Amino acid sequence: MPFTSDNELALAFSPDFISPDVKNQLPSDLHIRPLASTDYHRGYLSILSVLTTTPDPGEAAWVAQFNAMKQAPRTYYPLVIVSKSSDRVVAVGTLFIERKFVHNNGSVGHIEDIAVDANQQGKKLGLRVIQALTYISEISGCYKTILNCSDKNVPFYEKCGFQKKENEMAKYA
Ligand code: ACO
Repeated sequence: MPFTSDNELALAFSPDFISPDVKNQLPSDLHIRPLASTDYHRGYLSILSVLTTTPDPGEAAWVAQFNAMKQAPRTYYPLVIVSKSSDRVVAVGTLFIERKFVHNNGSVGHIEDIAVDANQQGKKLGLRVIQALTYISEISGCYKTILNCSDKNVPFYEKCGFQKKENEMAKYA
């Protein structure tokens, strides 16, 4: 498939939020941009399945979820790294911005659902996704950026500049 440029796509948020430094640091065959309404066809779900079970809801349900995120202003920032030669997604991640009353009506950035194509791991794409999401969090005024991860991913996040803090609690339905 030929590479599709940003101005030919319906994007989840403005590409102005993509860090220029991260763009410059990517290899020339790769492009980082907001998630697009047609990324269902570029292998978005198969990349996410590297992370966890990701059943295919079908294109209509996927697009409905994309639209629900896009319609919540300044809240969801799903982004992708795409191979220009294949026009396929090779890495993904999302920033979710939570508004609060504490910290002077502060906001917190939550990093979620990071995954890199198994064939592309170890090439700093995970690092670039985290840097890009942290950039969005910081230019949006978030006073901190946080995430949950397994023990085995702690060294990766430490390399990305994060520190272990407190505990995660969960109650599954
Ligand atoms: N243990 C130790 N170091 C690691 C690990 C690890 N498991 N993973 C990466 N690193 C190091 C790299 O060696 C590199 O170090 P260097 O700068 O000294 O060379 C640095 O971290 C950056 O690594 P990247 O090349 O950017 O890592 P990659 O592109 O492979 O992405 C990721 C890492 C996202 C964990 C990837 O392996 C992946 O998709 N794993 C499966 C899905 C997953 O676990 N996602 C994270 C879930 S947590 C969440 O979503 C909030």
